[in-house]
Amino acid sequence: MNAPRCFVEKNFTKDQMLECAHDGTKFPYSQDEIREGLIKGGFGHRFVDLPEKYGDAKGERLTDPFFSRGLGLFIHGGVGRGKTTLCALLAKEYYLRHPAFLEVVGVGKDLAQLVCPPILRFATPSMVSMGVREATDGLRQPWGGEGGNKHRQTPVGFLREYSKCRVLFLDELGRDLLPGFELRNLQAVIYARYDEGLQTVYASNYSLEELAGAGQLGGHVVSRIQETCRIIHMNGPDYREPAIKINQA
Ligand SMILES: Nc1ncnc2c1ncn2[C@@H]1O[C@H](COP(=O)(O)OP(=O)(O)OP(=O)(O)O)[C@@H](O)[C@H]1O
Ligand SMILES: [Mg+2]
Repeated sequence: MNAPRCFVEKNFTKDQMLECAHDGTKFPYSQDEIREGLIKGGFGHRFVDLPEKYGDAKGERLTDPFFSRGLGLFIHGGVGRGKTTLCALLAKEYYLRHPAFLEVVGVGKDLAQLVCPPILRFATPSMVSMGVREATDGLRQPWGGEGGNKHRQTPVGFLREYSKCRVLFLDELGRDLLPGFELRNLQAVIYARYDEGLQTVYASNYSLEELAGAGQLGGHVVSRIQETCRIIHMNGPDYREPAIKINQA
């Protein structure tokens, strides 16, 4: 049987499903599937199609605590040091090292519906707050109406996706001061992941001491990050280059 394509809900006959179950419903992700998984998981296109040479950025120093010891990471460094790029490289590597698995999302009389969900997610605090707002607004709209939430995703359901995925990449921590409700949503996700022992990779321009401060994550969250993450300092150059170089001659 052809390997089912990832990230797309598919109808399978009972026989096909049994065959999948026999295979353990596990198969390696293809390069295209990894790409799709990263995009569906929230990574921007810029970070999905990275030049091969950036692969150098993921040395043993990083991969060992993350892949072998199951630790999270707190990536800290100035602007343009390659923190988000490193998150994307780790995510790609994660897909390469883990087999895909299928989840049954519905079973009918003769058909079963399976999906291979994105197991990794990428978000910034503002992506989390916007998603919660969208889900809240969407629920107020009539079904299928303009601005309506087609999947009727609830704010809780939306937050659950970040709380339950295997690895969450949480970027740009501390960039914006979050108002109380939004901060509490973010904290709830971090707490839930901590309680379940799920790996989280944080990236920030700010140190943990700064993030512990008022209006930021708070000391109780930072303490959980310290316990579960290896801290990586990215001290290299700012890799961003101006699009147009001014000729000074
Ligand atoms: N190892 C690398 N070698 C060369 N260029 C790189 C490398 N890593 C990242 N870059 C490039 O540098 C730029 C900045 O990378 P990135 O956005 O990952 O930085 P960042 O640390 O997340 O910055 P910010 O703090 O502003 O979010 C991008 O254009 C990226 O393609
Ligand atoms: Mg970044």
